[in-house]
Amino acid sequence: MKKINLLFTSIIALFALNAIGQNKIILHTDAASSKINKEIYGHFAEHLGNCIYGGIYVGDTSNIPNTHGYRNDVVNALKEMKIPVLRWPGGCFADTYHWKDGVGPQNERASIVNVHWGGVTEDNSFGTHEFLDFCELINTEAFISLNVGSGTVRESSEWIEYVTSNNKSPMTDLRKKNGREDPWNVKFWGVGNETWGCGGEMTAEYYSDIFRQYAGFARGASYKVACGASDSNYDWTEVLMKKTQNKQHLIQGLSLHYYTITHDWSHKGSATNFTEEEWFTTLSKTLVMEELLTKHSTIMDKYDPEKKIGLVVDEWGNWFDVEEGTNPGFLYQQNTLRDALVAGINLNIFNNHADRVHMTNIAQAINVLQSVILTKDDKMVLTPTYYVFKMYAVHQDATLIPLNLKSENYKLNGDSIPAINASASTKNGVVSITLCNLNPNKSAVTELTLTGQNFSSATAQIITSQKMADFNDFGKEEKVTTTEFNIQKPKNGNLKVEIPSKSVVLIQLK
Ligand code: AHR
Repeated sequence: MKKINLLFTSIIALFALNAIGQNKIILHTDAASSKINKEIYGHFAEHLGNCIYGGIYVGDTSNIPNTHGYRNDVVNALKEMKIPVLRWPGGCFADTYHWKDGVGPQNERASIVNVHWGGVTEDNSFGTHEFLDFCELINTEAFISLNVGSGTVRESSEWIEYVTSNNKSPMTDLRKKNGREDPWNVKFWGVGNETWGCGGEMTAEYYSDIFRQYAGFARGASYKVACGASDSNYDWTEVLMKKTQNKQHLIQGLSLHYYTITHDWSHKGSATNFTEEEWFTTLSKTLVMEELLTKHSTIMDKYDPEKKIGLVVDEWGNWFDVEEGTNPGFLYQQNTLRDALVAGINLNIFNNHADRVHMTNIAQAINVLQSVILTKDDKMVLTPTYYVFKMYAVHQDATLIPLNLKSENYKLNGDSIPAINASASTKNGVVSITLCNLNPNKSAVTELTLTGQNFSSATAQIITSQKMADFNDFGKEEKVTTTEFNIQKPKNGNLKVEIPSKSVVLIQLK
């Protein structure tokens, strides 16, 4: 009944939208229903470049201020951002990772070659204990990727037992010998990573069978994520869903990877030195996420109409060429106001699909791809993407408010995309609306109409900067950060806001 009412009010709303103004948003506060899992705001930390070593972990003998080897500045920043879940150890690295190399006394651990990322030596000083203790320190859930590519079923099931079991067994004895009496509370386990590529070059049919085998022996893993498609590989989703149908004890999530690549894989473009054409292309390719979620969800709906299985977008974000003079295998890139827009748009899209999207993990947390934090020796930079995650934390575990949006177009060289992108939620009587203005040249006067609740006060914050390519740099004053933004009070359920060009805005109503 609620759905029919919403459909009816949406049809009425669409007529109203067309009748007035350029930018108009109707928010149905009385139809809020889907929970926005806090895990939608998740992150990813792989043994890649300086994400783990140097970024998170410097060892307890380092001159950089640390707690048991974890950088204090990074720990505090992640806690303030309210990081809800962290995926580890990869990525492609997970497909060559043998967890027993990374437990026991650090000086006795085997060194290996990180074949995927720069061929550097990995001394395994950051292993299972170091990762899970870090998650406890920053108060985040852990999401561990099992090695399906080059591991075994036994290796995976023993890892889960080592981490989660309370029973007496060879694995729990080993854990205790290694200094941890109680199990950790780890709910999320990824059964393989990119098994269609670096994780084993498998076909969907072959991997589906392997998935069922691994998941069947993954006792203790309460939320198992099957490796899903890349981009628009809908066949992969179809096969996985079909071959795991009626096996909901095995599969709780199915992943999707989609990176925003401005040009192509051989020339991805610069993170900081770009034209308006490239800004436009990056944002239009980001909007493709909406289509991907809709189409993958439609396939999932066919096999799982009750939406029990979550779509887990466990890798997403901008992927540019590495910064000049850095190791090409380390994927280090700067982060500008354009990245803030890409984060804001994606997070709005994820919120609006909260009925199916259970979790997402931006790639990657520190010093790799679209990071929230960059470090250089003892210095740290909080990127524009960091400020978006911190701003959007109000949506974590809130209830999604459905909205109808009419937006003017941002046009360039004959192409056009909607200038405004938005999502909204409600929690403890406060309505939070996040809006992005994609147009770098023009502000957008936007009329908001709220049905179902009366509001007497409004506050707002904004992330913007003078130039599209502004970024925060080491040892310099921050250019892109969050500031207060003045708006009028809502009157009779209406609010008019002028959203500045190239900005991300949060409005909160009480
Ligand atoms: O995030 C970098 C890499 O991108 C990951 O290791 C892999 O899963 C993906 O191809």
